[in-house]
Amino acid sequence: MAAPADRNLPVNDPDDASWWRSAVIYQVYIRSFADGNGDGVGDIAGLRDRLPYLADLGVDAVWINPWYPSPLVDAGYDVSDYRAIEPRFGTLADAEALIADAHERGMRIILDVVPNHTSSAHVWFGEALRAGPGSPERDRYVFRPGRGPGGDEPPNDWKAMFGGGAWTRVTEPDGTPGEWYLHLFDVEQPDLNWENPEVRADFEQTLRFWFDRGIDGFRIDVANSLIKETGLPDVGTRRNHEPGPHPHWDRDEVHDVYRDWRRIADTYDPPRVFVAEAWVPEADRFARYLRADELHTAFNFDFLQAAWLAPALRESVTRTLREHAVVGAPPTWVLSNHDVARHVSRLARDPDAGIGTSLDSMLGTVADLELGLRRARAAALLIFALPGGAYVYQGDELGLPEVEDLPPDVLDDPTWRRSGHTERGRDGCRVPIPWSGDAPPFGFGEGEPWLPQPEWFAEHTAEALAKDPDSILNLYRSALRLRRENPALGDGPLTWLDAPEGALAFARDRGFVLVLNVSAEPLPLPAGAEIILASGPLTEDARVPADTAVWLAAH
Ligand code: GLC
Repeated sequence: MAAPADRNLPVNDPDDASWWRSAVIYQVYIRSFADGNGDGVGDIAGLRDRLPYLADLGVDAVWINPWYPSPLVDAGYDVSDYRAIEPRFGTLADAEALIADAHERGMRIILDVVPNHTSSAHVWFGEALRAGPGSPERDRYVFRPGRGPGGDEPPNDWKAMFGGGAWTRVTEPDGTPGEWYLHLFDVEQPDLNWENPEVRADFEQTLRFWFDRGIDGFRIDVANSLIKETGLPDVGTRRNHEPGPHPHWDRDEVHDVYRDWRRIADTYDPPRVFVAEAWVPEADRFARYLRADELHTAFNFDFLQAAWLAPALRESVTRTLREHAVVGAPPTWVLSNHDVARHVSRLARDPDAGIGTSLDSMLGTVADLELGLRRARAAALLIFALPGGAYVYQGDELGLPEVEDLPPDVLDDPTWRRSGHTERGRDGCRVPIPWSGDAPPFGFGEGEPWLPQPEWFAEHTAEALAKDPDSILNLYRSALRLRRENPALGDGPLTWLDAPEGALAFARDRGFVLVLNVSAEPLPLPAGAEIILASGPLTEDARVPADTAVWLAAH
């Protein structure tokens, strides 16, 4: 692979306090990125080795999924100690060295904080079980007596995200059947009680612990779930992520937590930043998380869910820009992450087929992966040209499709278990990355990867793609270099230009135009425009075919 010096990439300014307004952030799902110690599980040593690759790719920051001590029941989103490192991933010294290395290469580091729940292996949960009903130890979580005779019905009708009920009954220290505790996710992920000042103080200490070690920000896991409605009323017929009030999503009081967190982040120089994971359906309610005294950015799932149809894409972009402008926050653009099926595979489906974001919603539908890759290339040029920041999920730059046929006995996602083996869940986007060679483990590490890699990963190794000038990897590298060089890109205004039905065109200030043909007849280029980059070949008469995006310099 080309050395960073070959690229003449402009260097990021470490003192730039507004870097996050335009940043391209690379998501490292650490378990599956690169294995440095040969145990088949990705780790900090593997990530450190690959920092030159990331710097060369041209990303501005790296977001690392949870790397804290954890039983890994939900892949690290079950944290048993927020201020240490999971031994399978390395040590605190490794983490500090990684942060220093990344900074030296001009890249920032964002960690994941998981405030809604701990692991049931967290010392607090053990204390809560031992201390019994009514104790201050139990008050850190959400324990309640059951309903019905003998208290053997759960306290309310809430459902867990991974399937089944959201309550589990405990056995009291004296051996009798006891209270129930709330877990909106898996049984091993008890929800914390955010009314309890000790919980708040402890998370503030966690933020400071990592900020003091030089990290640049946090991604906040399920940022819209912390506060539950007083009295814990039944949810009834209300569904997750549909508009309207809900007893455990997006309660108004959650914003007080983030105002406190913002005050802490602002005491650092340069100020530390936050990105919210908040699946909030109403655009105006979503924007409330981004008010000037709250969080800096949030993942834009509205756009991630938009169908590959020109009106749907344009409406999502317009809605996003409008709602972010109200609060003065820059949008973010995301195509994939560790919770959704990889977008090459989603885009390989008919956009009218009504598939969702999960692999399970796509199974049984016809896929054309060549088409999916063509669209993924065009989608990348679209997101990197839109105002604000963008995310790259590891493997996006390799054009990796979803692994749709992992053998059932290797599936690890709690969704598979909790759905009674009816939903495969999210493992298909979490398969260890192919780096090099033509057989597993494809340079991932020495050991057998924790999820098996298919043979066809050989076509997607970073090594093979780096050698092909037309590969998606080289498209990403070119796009990110041009983006860093061009002041029109990143944060700033966007002006829609006229485009035929089935196409989108916009200008960025100044001198930049994007044309995306989603489904129209081949489009002529605007007169006098000079092509800077194209996601795929143009027609023989230099028109833009369907599923192709072009960046132009407009004079
Ligand atoms: C978030 C994470 C997801 C995890 C869940 C519970 O949605 O992205 O991976 O399972 O929270 O923590």
